[in-house]
Amino acid sequence: MKLSNKQIRERIEDAQSLPMLLLEAKDYLRLFYQEQSLPEAQLQERLVEIYHDYRRSRTYWQTEDELIYGAKVAWRNSMRCIGRIFWESLRVRDLRHLTSAEEIFAAIVDHIQQATNGGNIRSTISIFAPDVPGQPGIRIWNPQLIRYAGYRQPNGTIVGDPAQMELTELCQHFGWQGRGTQFDVLPLIIQMPGQKPQLFELPPEAVMEVSMTHPDYDWFAELGLKWHALPAVSDWRLEIGGISYSCAPFNGWYMSAEIGARNFGDVKRYNLLPTVAERMGLNIRSKLSLWQDRALIELNRAVLHSFTTCGVTIADHHTASAQFMRHWHQEAEAGRMVPADWGRIVPPLSASTMEVFHQEMQNVCLKPNFFQLPVPWKGWNRKQSFSIGSTLNNSQLKQCPFH
Ligand code: ARG
Repeated sequence: MKLSNKQIRERIEDAQSLPMLLLEAKDYLRLFYQEQSLPEAQLQERLVEIYHDYRRSRTYWQTEDELIYGAKVAWRNSMRCIGRIFWESLRVRDLRHLTSAEEIFAAIVDHIQQATNGGNIRSTISIFAPDVPGQPGIRIWNPQLIRYAGYRQPNGTIVGDPAQMELTELCQHFGWQGRGTQFDVLPLIIQMPGQKPQLFELPPEAVMEVSMTHPDYDWFAELGLKWHALPAVSDWRLEIGGISYSCAPFNGWYMSAEIGARNFGDVKRYNLLPTVAERMGLNIRSKLSLWQDRALIELNRAVLHSFTTCGVTIADHHTASAQFMRHWHQEAEAGRMVPADWGRIVPPLSASTMEVFHQEMQNVCLKPNFFQLPVPWKGWNRKQSFSIGSTLNNSQLKQCPFH
């Protein structure tokens, strides 16, 4: 049936007859045209164009401007993020044209370097090709671009990051060999739709790390701790106007508590509170000594001190909280609410000293947004072979152009 543009416009008006994707597209395009103060007539034209695309291909291709603004708004709508005041400054890399895992890997190395920017971190997202309806999308198996391996020891203890044990074992199963230290950067596993996953090692010079020292305790350096400068999440899909980008890794900069409280302090992560408390000479047998709280503070001081000394961007939790509240009020002035997950926004230490603790929040999901993807290896048959680059030979890893 051939419809005139007028008939199409009427269809688009009549929400009930529209398929989900076109409803989502219409919602987002309206937001985009409104917030960017673009003329209504152009919006109507664009919707007709999208309608034709949809009829032909069951999907549509977003313009670069739609993509860029959509990514920014997805950040603005991220309920768990305390750093959203900077949402408009997100650097968006449109990489939808890349078609192979090799190209994607090279673009990711580029992302890491540009975003790290010698320590002056820039919030950045790289957006790869959108998912084709009804097919799996491109996947990065790692939860973040930079993560440390976790090795289970014969005696039941763990060396490295316990949260990455499963992924580490998969990497080993498919031929990767880590050095076995507390801080081995994992290789990236990239899977193109319908293809085998491929392993790539990040060039060490692309991964900036900060060694941990303490402003008052000289012994702290002896613990041999460090952390990577760049937090870059890679297991959330970006959704804009009904289009899903399952490969769209993004980074901001760290807030100290993410490392000092959670990554170093959690019992199920590096579990360093007893070690630090003992070095501080605290009585770890009495809860009344508040040894955990005191060790937590010193770990956080060490993270802030080390990052700032190395010239790497970091936020303390008080500043982050104040910025979030400023964002809250700015958004109210723009006529918007700030959807937020209180349990994730409130920092994991000294909560009641910060304004966010006293703020009631509404955890509603607005779109565009990011959505956590399921673990990609569940249901993956370990007997299926992997490829490293194009082969399964670990020694060839070392010959990758970055080594
Ligand atoms: N909490 C995660 C980590 O410790 C990083 C999550 C994203 N954080 C950020 N500041 N953008 O690695």
